[in-house]
This record gives sequence, structure tokens and C-alpha cells, in this order.
Amino acid sequence: MTDISFLEHTTSLPNSKAKFDALVVLIGDAGKLSSTASGFDKQTGGAVKAAIAAGKFSGKKGQAISILAPHKLGVARLVLLGTGKEKEFDALVAQNIGGSLVSHLNNEGAKSARIIVDASAEIAANIAYGAKLKSYNFDKYQTTKKAEEKPTLVTIEVAVKDAKTAIKHYSVFEKIIAGVFFTRDVVSEPANIIYPESLAEKCKELTKLGVKVEVLTVAQMQKLGMGALLGVGQGSVKESKLVVMKYEGGAKGKAPLAFVGKGVTFDTGGISIKPANGMEEMKHDMAGAGTVIGLIKTLAGRKAKVNAVGVVGLVENMPDGNAQRPGDVVTSMSGQTIEVLNTDAEGRLVLADALWYTQEKFKPAFVIDLATLTGAIVVALGTSRAGLFSNNDKLSEQIFAVGKKVGEEVWRLPLGEVYDKQINSDIADMQNIGADREAGSITAAQFLQRFIKDDKTPWVHLDIAGVAWTKKTLDIVPKGASAYGVRLLNELVSEYYE
Ligand code: BES
Ligand code: MN
Ligand code: ZN
Repeated sequence: MTDISFLEHTTSLPNSKAKFDALVVLIGDAGKLSSTASGFDKQTGGAVKAAIAAGKFSGKKGQAISILAPHKLGVARLVLLGTGKEKEFDALVAQNIGGSLVSHLNNEGAKSARIIVDASAEIAANIAYGAKLKSYNFDKYQTTKKAEEKPTLVTIEVAVKDAKTAIKHYSVFEKIIAGVFFTRDVVSEPANIIYPESLAEKCKELTKLGVKVEVLTVAQMQKLGMGALLGVGQGSVKESKLVVMKYEGGAKGKAPLAFVGKGVTFDTGGISIKPANGMEEMKHDMAGAGTVIGLIKTLAGRKAKVNAVGVVGLVENMPDGNAQRPGDVVTSMSGQTIEVLNTDAEGRLVLADALWYTQEKFKPAFVIDLATLTGAIVVALGTSRAGLFSNNDKLSEQIFAVGKKVGEEVWRLPLGEVYDKQINSDIADMQNIGADREAGSITAAQFLQRFIKDDKTPWVHLDIAGVAWTKKTLDIVPKGASAYGVRLLNELVSEYYE
């Protein structure tokens, strides 16, 4: 991870004693150099203009080229970083180019950089934010990798006119980053390290931030009648847990915002076992829970003026002599019975009880659940948007809007009676899969809706199966656990609920 710092820049030229091996300057795509850039151009005898003339670099957002050993500059490289069209240069673009810069510098083997930001303090803070998010690296198990194979970039100094204001903005971003990195850490960990009990222990770290953390055991969940959640975990030697995280930063007694996460720490499919190929990916089937925990950490960290509760259902879905069988009927906490036709449709069983418990216990102002719920959502939407299902237009639109703003986008899919009918069972109140494979993500959401007490509680279900883990490096997300949802829901809270 790269360290970020800010400094006041009064002159656009670097201090000759400064110690960094990359000096970075912003270039817009209009072809006109800023006074900072043309200062460097003059100082280097025209190297900046020559470099732009020499190839594809034209200042498009995210483009980066290095002028190595620039004449008279006393620095190993001068990096030109494209900011794109001036009109479109907003906070998100700033974050994204910060991310691009980190990739560029790591590819080249730069260790330290100073970026001169001749734009607002807010833009500077956002560049730093994107750079930091992109620099995340989960390498704790790589003990023999050679230095040259590892990321090289250790520090970025951001030079901006009003450094104080930039630092103020960035100090909020730091709390979000802490939440995002927490989520990426727990989602990246393999399932022999993160299982229900160890993840519940990680939740307890939030008590340091004033969050009240309660861990329900199997015995307590049995008393509450959580037969749906418990059925999923019964084939595992790891004890199931339900963790409740309560953060009270708002008015006393005000109904909390509730966030509920699917925390299947490993999903083999159970007796309806998954194919071996790719099964290792199912270590991230707790990403919904991981996101909820990271979100509560963020809210508490930045002392959000809101009451929020995070509830995560933690189970491991294993085949075993004691595992539930296809055809078993379980009774959920709501009293509704479920015929488990496929033990691999387990997330909805976990959420059924977690959702019911959350509503019973907290009478929340809204409920948002996050789950890596269906492969079908990946078929429908791919890997750039989460599926959104809801009983409430206003909350849906709010999430859509903040999704665009932070670059964690959603797309709403329908709910309705025709879909609901598909999960009626011959012998129980419902079955856990549709009668056929049609509309798999919708029937899953329909199942969840049966555990939403009434339409007066705004409810949103986010199916994050396609977005929780990325196989490609994205603008500000390195390969692996994305922590999709932490920034989205933090923004939702901060825009509309504080
Ligand atoms: N955890 C999976 C869904 C999933 C798939 C998450 C790909 C991330 C990436 C879920 O528990 C599951 O197995 N769903 C089944 C449901 C089916 C049996 C109705 C699926 O999507 O195949
Ligand atoms: Mn499954
Ligand atoms: Zn699953």
C-alpha cells in the first residue's frame, strides 16, 4: 500500500533537495499546457511538448507517459498524467486518474512520486483517494516473491495550493479507505482462515470505534427458531454465527438504517455440490457480510450522524453426514416453512432469518441486504453492475444516483407476482429455487421478499455476485476483492440520511 501525504505548493517547480523519483504533472486533453506543465516544458528544453507530439498520449483521462531522465530536472522521470476533458474532470475522474497513476508508476518501478495538482484541493484529495484505493495489495501469503515482482511505489506526495483543505477532505476518505480495505482483507482471506467464528472475531474489532457487537451462537439462534440459517450450516464443523453490529451516531431512539449481509464463508453447494472447477472462488461468498462490516466500520470511523445496524449471517455450506438434504423442509424464524430443493441456493436461506431478525429486533427505517446470491445475475448484468431489487422507488433511485457518483453502479430488475408464484412449493410454504431456471436472480429476490414484513419498510436487495470479486484490474480496484458496496452505501448515508 502506498503512503499518501500532502504539501503546500507555492512554486510549480520542485525543490532541488526533494527526494522522489517521479514528478507528475496533469495534462488536459485540449492540447493546451497549464502554466505548471509549460514551466516544466521550458525547464526541460521542450521535452513535454515533444513527448506529446511523439506518440499516442494526448491527455485523455487516465493516460500516462514518462519522460525518463528529463533534461535539467534532477528527477528520474517526469510523468504526464491525462485528466481528459476539463468539463468532465470531476471527483470520480480524479479518483480514476489517481488509480491509473499508481498502476503506471508500479509498472515502471518508481518508488516515490510527487504530483503537482494545479486544480482544487478537492480534486487533489480525490486523486489521492483513488491512488490509495488502487494501491491495495493482499500479499501476506507471498513469502518468496522477489522485490522486482512486487509493487514498488511506496509514497505519493500531493502538492496543492490549499493543502489544508485537501487534508480535510482526505481525512474523510481515509475512513472510507479503512472500511474498504477491511472488507477487501476479509474477502481475500481463504476459507480456512475466515470462517464464521473467526469472522465474528474480526467484527469485534469494531468495538474500538464505539460499535456494539453481539455474536449469537447456534444455541441462541435455535431458541429464536432460525431453522433456515441453521440448516445451511449444519453440515459444517464450523459453528454458524449471527453478528449484530450497532452504531449509534444519530438521535437517541431514532429508527436505525439496517444493512444485512450474506456471509457464507465457503459455499461448496452442500449436497447439491458445485463442480470442482472454480469452486475456490466461493471463498468470497461472504462478500455481502464483509461489505456490511466494512460499511459499519466506515460509518463509525467517520462518526456519521446516523443510527445504523449491521447484521451478518455467517455459515459454511458443506456436504457431510449431517448436512441438509435436497427435499428437507426447514422452518424459518418467521414461521414460514421452506422446502430446500437445492442446497446450493443457500444464501437466501441465511438471509431469510437474518432479515426477519433485523426487522423484529430493530424496526429499521430501511433494510438493505447485500449478497453474492446468484450466478444468474452475472449472466444478466455482467461484472460492472450489481442487480437491485426493491419494494421502494425512492430508495432505489437514491442508490442508483450514488452508484453513478462513486462508480459502483446498480441496475434495477423487476419483482412481481408471476415470479413469486414460481417459488410456491407442493409441500411447504415455499421452495428455495424456482420451478425452472428462468429468471433465477428474480426468483431469489422474490424469496427474500417473503421475509420482508410489509411494504412500509423500504427494502433493497443488492445481488453482488458479479461485482464482489474482479478478475481484471479496474480503475481504482486491483484484481480480487473489490469491496463493492462500501463506498456506495457510505455515500447513500452521507447524501440522504445524515
Ligand atoms: N454463491 C452462489 C452464487 C454465486 C455464483 C456467487 C457466482 C458468486 C459467483 C449461490 O449460493 C449459488 O450457488 N446460487 C445458485 C442458485 C441456484 C442453485 C438456484 C446459482 O446461482 O447457481
Ligand atoms: Mn450456493
Ligand atoms: Zn452461495
